[in-house]
Amino acid sequence: MIEGDAETDADLEAAVRILHAGGLVAIPTETVYGLAADASNPAAVRRLYQVKGRPAGHPVIIHIAGIEALPRWAARVPEDARRLAEAFWPGPLTLILPRTPAAGDEVTGGRETVGLRVPNHPLTLALIRAFDGGLAAPSANRFGRVSPTTAADVRADLGGDVDLVLDGGPCGVGVESTIVDCSEEGAPPVILRPGGVTAEEIEAALGHPVQRTPGGPSRAPGMLAAHYAPRAEVIVIEESAAAIAAADSHARSGERTGLLTPQPVTAPPGVTALTAGDTSESYAAALYDRLREADRLGLDVLVVVPPPAEGVGVAVRDRLARAATGSAR
Ligand code: TXA
Ligand code: MG
Repeated sequence: MIEGDAETDADLEAAVRILHAGGLVAIPTETVYGLAADASNPAAVRRLYQVKGRPAGHPVIIHIAGIEALPRWAARVPEDARRLAEAFWPGPLTLILPRTPAAGDEVTGGRETVGLRVPNHPLTLALIRAFDGGLAAPSANRFGRVSPTTAADVRADLGGDVDLVLDGGPCGVGVESTIVDCSEEGAPPVILRPGGVTAEEIEAALGHPVQRTPGGPSRAPGMLAAHYAPRAEVIVIEESAAAIAAADSHARSGERTGLLTPQPVTAPPGVTALTAGDTSESYAAALYDRLREADRLGLDVLVVVPPPAEGVGVAVRDRLARAATGSAR
C-alpha cells in the first residue's frame, strides 16, 4: 500500500467509519501490529478483549496522535514524562500516567493510571488524526501467542474477527514498546517492560537513572511469565556450540528440531537452521517472524541462541524467556 494514494484514503475512511461504529481495526505500528478500538467506547473495548481472548482487567495502551492529546487522558504529566514524550514520541515508548475520567475502567482495568503511546507509523498516525480520538490497542494476536509483525500475520491469527486490517508493511522494530511508569509522584520512572527504546536511551534523555528490569521479568500487569509462545518448545541456550549440541540431540531423538541463531551456523543433520540477525536491532525485527516460522515448519523444538543483553537485545531476551516458559511442553 502506498501512502496518500486513493486506496489508502479509502481504507482510512473505512477504518474511521468502523471505529466510530464500535468495530475493530488492525493497525500497523513500528513495533508490532495492534488491534484497535475506540478507547472511549466501552462496548468496543469489551469486544476487543473478547476477540483477543484476554482476561478482563488487563489494561490496554491508548494510542494518541501526539503530545498535545496528553491532557485528555493524563491527569498529571510529571517533568520526566514530558521529557520522555518529547524525546521518543512518535516512537516505541509507552508512558504510564495518572488517568483522567476519559480513560475509563474498560481501558485501564480499573487502575488509577493509563498507558499512552504515540506510534511511529504514518498510516496509523493519519488514522488517529482522522478518527480524532484515542485508539485502545493491544497487540493484534490471540492472548498468549506471538505478536504479529505483518498484516498477513494478523489475518492468520484473527481471521474474520477483525473488521479491517490496515496493511502498513512489516514492522521495523519488531518487539513491543518500552513501558515506563511515571505515575508515582516524586519517584524515579520504572521500566515495566523492556522494548524498542533502551534503558540507556531513557537515562540519557532524563539525565538520571531509572529503575530497570535487567534481564529480569517485565512487570507490567497482565504480562504473564508464559507469553509470546509459539507451539514449538523454545529452549534458550547462550552459547552457540552448546546450542548446536542440544539441537543435535533433540533431532536424534526424533523431534522436528530448529536452531535459531544470530548468525548463520552449520546445523547438524536433520536440524532446520533459522537466522535472526547479528545486531540486536535486526534480531528484534526478525524474532516474531522466526517464532511463527517454527510453527509453519511444524517444529517440535526450537533451540535459540539469544542476542547479548545490550540495547533492544534486552527486550528480545525478555520475550524469549517468556516464549520458553510458555512452550507447549
Ligand atoms: O508496542 C506496543 O506497545 C504494542 C503496539 C500495538 O502499540 N502494544 C502492546 O499492547 O504491546 P499489549 O496490550 O500487548 O501490551 C500492553 C502492556 C500490557 O502488558 C499492560 O499490562 C501494560 O501495557 N499496560 C497498559 N496500561 C497499563 C497501566 N495503566 N499500568 C501498567 N501497565 C499497563
Ligand atoms: Mg501483547
